[in-house]
Amino acid sequence: MKHLVRKLKTMAVLLVVVVISAHAQKTPQDMDRFIDALMKKMTLEEKIGQLNLPVTGDITTGQAKSSDVAKRISQGEVGGLFNLKGVAKIRDVQKQAVENSRLGIPLLFGMDVIHGYETVFPIPLGLSCTWDMKAIEQSARIAAIEASADGISWTFSPMVDVSRDARWGRISEGSGEDPFLGAAIARAMVKGYQGKNMSGKDEIMACVKHFALYGAPEAGRDYNTVDMSRNRMFNEYMLPYQAAVEAGAGSAMAAFNEVDGVPATGNKWLMTDVLRTQWGFDGFVVTDYTGISEMVDHGMGDLQAVAALALNAGIDMDMVSDAFVSTLKKSVEEGKVSVASIDKACRRMLEAKYKLGLFENPYKYCDVKRPAKDIFTPEHRAIARKTASESFVLMKNDNQTLPLQKKGTIAVIGPLGNTRSNMPGTWSVAAVLDNAPSLVEGLKEVTKGKANVVYAKGSNLMSDAAYEERATMFGRSLHRDNRTDKEMLEEALRISADADVIVAALGESSEMSGESSCRTDLTMPDVQRTLLEELLKTGKPVVLVLFTGRPLVLTWEKENVPAILNVWFGGSEAALAIGDVLFGDVNPSGKLTTTFPQNVGQVPLFYAHKNTGRPLNKGWFEKFRTNYLDVSNEPLYPFGYGLSYTSFTYSDISLDRSSMAVNGELTATVTLTNTGNRDGAEVVQLYIRDLVASITRPVKELKGFEKVFLKAGESRKVSFKITPELLKFYNYDLQFVCEPGEFDLMIGGNSQEVKTTRFVLTD
Ligand code: BGC
Repeated sequence: MKHLVRKLKTMAVLLVVVVISAHAQKTPQDMDRFIDALMKKMTLEEKIGQLNLPVTGDITTGQAKSSDVAKRISQGEVGGLFNLKGVAKIRDVQKQAVENSRLGIPLLFGMDVIHGYETVFPIPLGLSCTWDMKAIEQSARIAAIEASADGISWTFSPMVDVSRDARWGRISEGSGEDPFLGAAIARAMVKGYQGKNMSGKDEIMACVKHFALYGAPEAGRDYNTVDMSRNRMFNEYMLPYQAAVEAGAGSAMAAFNEVDGVPATGNKWLMTDVLRTQWGFDGFVVTDYTGISEMVDHGMGDLQAVAALALNAGIDMDMVSDAFVSTLKKSVEEGKVSVASIDKACRRMLEAKYKLGLFENPYKYCDVKRPAKDIFTPEHRAIARKTASESFVLMKNDNQTLPLQKKGTIAVIGPLGNTRSNMPGTWSVAAVLDNAPSLVEGLKEVTKGKANVVYAKGSNLMSDAAYEERATMFGRSLHRDNRTDKEMLEEALRISADADVIVAALGESSEMSGESSCRTDLTMPDVQRTLLEELLKTGKPVVLVLFTGRPLVLTWEKENVPAILNVWFGGSEAALAIGDVLFGDVNPSGKLTTTFPQNVGQVPLFYAHKNTGRPLNKGWFEKFRTNYLDVSNEPLYPFGYGLSYTSFTYSDISLDRSSMAVNGELTATVTLTNTGNRDGAEVVQLYIRDLVASITRPVKELKGFEKVFLKAGESRKVSFKITPELLKFYNYDLQFVCEPGEFDLMIGGNSQEVKTTRFVLTD
């Protein structure tokens, strides 16, 4: 009887939900009315339950009912789950929420869909080197289509942390060192994931992360303390988060680190004053994994205290800590948090579900026909292949070593040459690791019948077996070879002896970057360097195909290897894309979005540095100027750098006027010419320097870019409109202003090689 009454009650609630939502989805007022009505029915426990995001173990289909999490769901203790994929499983679990909990509120299903889903795109750092906003948006769109087809409603992406520290493993997950470019990419990604308004069946909710400043940990060590001035924060680090918010990101994730001495997760100034009041964010904020309970170790109090701190700061959802569900009720009773704060957070969670259309159809992402139709399709893979080829950066190409010809014998040598599992790159949790062809397989396919592609491993990843194990986790083993270094080397040289060209596949394994994968030595690992030296001694042309998730120290390689193609980790189609570029079917056009240092002691090294009171004039060492005794201040490869198989020249810059008023604008134009004999694309970059201001300003800042495709011999005018908005910065009082005076305007193909002119901003 009791059971029947409960069932009828559930049905009544569902009916209300359905009736209301049939007329809903229209205006914000409709949403408010719907949520008001729902919240009136909710107990305090149920409201707190909406704020809880536990991680699921792997629930097998059909077992959801009996799992521990199902019990919690039916008790209304869960607002969402993450790391569960597959329509059948998700439908099963969703059913628990919709049919077996008192109010039938649907769950969110989150996942780290970071750079593609099963069709994997290049790691974000590589993707950023395309400078192609359409391609980046499309990569997120395809990721959303595939993830939604597999039951996922919410992705923990985009990761927009600016980082200038090559030691930090997660530099691979972001868009590099520049806030202007990072902001453009943040907007493109949010748009790609969320589509028109998140209500479509293939549109999912984005989560901008990690708010804030996670990319600047001391010593480049993950999770370490961050401490920076508000001046630097707002001028150099905040822009991409703000851009994602303005693009409508439905959620944000708190960073693990502290900001101004208070962990981001408990920082009210950050989560409420900046994010909501200043920027107008109206989505919900989730913590990072155990972000709340980690505040105990930060020294902010016991679990109850830190949970209250987080809620009061403006956090809405607790990822994995179980801190909200286990302590908030008690905190209400003790007057440490108010019911109003819980209501606010609960409302935001319900709003997210409403915006996704989950009240209308909780099984919106559970169409059994979709996975076969929408995941890892030939169309998606073709796009991923093209995008990957755009992300590679040609660092060096002496004597036109590249492109190669599809003929003769090509020896692929190196520990990264025949691994499938390492191709997708770090944070590719939905990748089927065996789906991605290895480099040698890819090159065989691309040269089919025309060239003889042979392979030898040549060396292990590094001589230290324990290090190699740490660097190849999560099923990404390189299958350490038990032969001696000498035996492996001899085999490589034997195989190379018959080759016309050697493709050395060296660098990092995919798990040498990413979360908790920081390094202090960024040179090529020992045995790989030895292998490279020996390959060069053969006198045959050697192309270094460099796999990496971060800037490496390539000083020796730059000096000694004739051609270097940096392929990052290019995703599921990487091997074919590498073939496209190596053989010249695609002309490389990637440009670095992160500075490569000469040595790790220069880090953090970035182009938009300040001048200081003792800048170095020309050349290198000068006593009592800002420099080192042992190495110049120059990067090995600067921000914006990348070669092509063709060449481009820039005319001088012409301005349509030499001064503009604070309400005016001017246009800067260059003529770009493809002076080589191949068609190709060039990323034209605009930089500006504010010469005199009320606070010190960087020597240059990226303020515009355009990727231009030109046929061999073709010229085109490229123009940038300069508005006062572009000249604004946060002044000492953190007001966003532009100040009249002189500005240098620079246009060129990288941050160092630019044409320069000057204009004036008048009152
Ligand atoms: C990472 C986040 C990620 C979360 C959930 C954390 O360790 O910092 O970026 O979204 O785990 O997987």
